[in-house]
Amino acid sequence: MAGSQRIVIASSNTGKLRELVAWLHEWPVELVNQSDLGVTEADESGISFVENAILKARHACSATGLPAIADDSGIEVEILDGAPGVRSARFAGPGAGDEKNLQLLLERVRGTGAVNPVARFQCLMVFMAHAGDATPVIAQGTWNGHLVPEPRGSHGFGYDPIFFVPTHGCTSAELDPTIKNQISHRAQALAGLLQGLRARFPAQSEIPRRRAGTGR
Ligand code: IMP
Repeated sequence: MAGSQRIVIASSNTGKLRELVAWLHEWPVELVNQSDLGVTEADESGISFVENAILKARHACSATGLPAIADDSGIEVEILDGAPGVRSARFAGPGAGDEKNLQLLLERVRGTGAVNPVARFQCLMVFMAHAGDATPVIAQGTWNGHLVPEPRGSHGFGYDPIFFVPTHGCTSAELDPTIKNQISHRAQALAGLLQGLRARFPAQSEIPRRRAGTGR
């Protein structure tokens, strides 16, 4: 790949950018947040995580003419038929925030009478070389656990305080963030994305630049 190749991260979240920079350190690329390029948030109208990740990546490619990486994530609760799923960030309504989302999820679980229901965090990561890329690199990470009835722990965000991680005997909000970043759904998806990028762009090859008619 050329040393100056820029890749746009279809997220305004600087934490995600930092994680990606760390994981992609072996690639001679410059990662830049879409908000720094004036790109607005994409419409997340998909009904699956992978659709939303592709929508976000394509939107960022179209707006910038650059390759893009996007992710979409959320929590699925088996007894609730996978809810909140793709609606995790807006479960209690647009702009409701983490606390209201978490409380609504606990309320819904209580309504079923289930104790410690099976849950999993999902993360889908997508790399698109350009807006018309028909073979995006796609990776999925799944973190299995179950819900606890009361929030525990102060790290993390979102549903971390009620997500119990059986392998570590605590909630993900009680986990050392360094550990979480090694084992979470996002870490697994990032590892898969890296593997997919290595396969699609073997050493010395180059991420294609914008092709005529597929960019902004
Ligand atoms: P997005 O991928 O940034 O759209 O996030 C989706 C939503 O899923 C977040 O707002 C959180 O509610 C939830 N979520 C995703 N990953 C995590 C996590 O690692 N911990 C807790 N909640 C998460």
